[in-house]
Amino acid sequence: MKITHAVIPVAGFGTRMLPLSKAVPKELLPLGNKPAIQYVIEEAVASGIKNIVLVNHAQKMAIENYFDINSELDTQLRTKGKNELADSLNFLPNDVNIISVRQGKPLGLGHAVLQARSAIGDNHFAVLLPDVVLNPFESDYNSQNLVFMINEFSKNSHSQILVDPVATADIHKYGIAKLHGESKTLEKTKQNQAFGVQGFVEKPKADVAPSNLAVVGRYVFNNAIFDYLAKTEPSVGGEIQLTDAIDALISTQGVDVVTMVGNSFDAGDMTSYMRAFMYFADKILQK
Ligand code: G1P
Repeated sequence: MKITHAVIPVAGFGTRMLPLSKAVPKELLPLGNKPAIQYVIEEAVASGIKNIVLVNHAQKMAIENYFDINSELDTQLRTKGKNELADSLNFLPNDVNIISVRQGKPLGLGHAVLQARSAIGDNHFAVLLPDVVLNPFESDYNSQNLVFMINEFSKNSHSQILVDPVATADIHKYGIAKLHGESKTLEKTKQNQAFGVQGFVEKPKADVAPSNLAVVGRYVFNNAIFDYLAKTEPSVGGEIQLTDAIDALISTQGVDVVTMVGNSFDAGDMTSYMRAFMYFADKILQK
């Protein structure tokens, strides 16, 4: 039950990041000295993922180019003796493949994930949303969060959804977990913890939200999710929501939430992005 496949949906235009994202995909905007998506790819690779499927859009080919070898640049750098710099640009391990498929129409996150179905085949898989960058200075990509979720999945084959407590004012921005039993609010935990979940509500108003636990943007899915995604009708925002397909999956098999260790940054929102940039730049300059 090893998870070696991951889907990263990158087709969105990033309207919350305009004008920065007009000509540069928001995923390639810097956090310190690396593009935001590089942290997400590093997290996937540290979790044992070998096959990454980008769900892309025709106008965002720069993302694919970033993960490809630029042989002219490589040759030029090596001719000038800058071998170390050239090596640093080929950072993907040899056994990791990145391919891309297209999402031609902006029909929602659920629709985006479904576009990866033929590339994923019968494999169980992870989904990483690139807007969400887990803080690499506060958590360990090699042992926490996604790695923990993959280990849990290998034990019970329940799909795993990463969640984190959020402030009441932010609840309407997220998918919110409906827990078993009475508890409606949970404190942040120092270690990852997994427990069963009853369902999710996509972007509820705070006063009707079933808990304070927001879906953070890391998922490990049983392949059966594709059957439910294929049947999911548009809902919130007129989009095919991944959250609705997860709810349908829960009606037939166990799904667990995993509490997140460390914090995350929303690199798809201008204010959060600017704060994240300052944080990463500061950390890297301190080294
Ligand atoms: C998506 C998901 C939502 C999740 C969020 C995390 O929403 O639909 O459930 O909480 O990502 O960032 P989006 O931010 O794409 O609107």
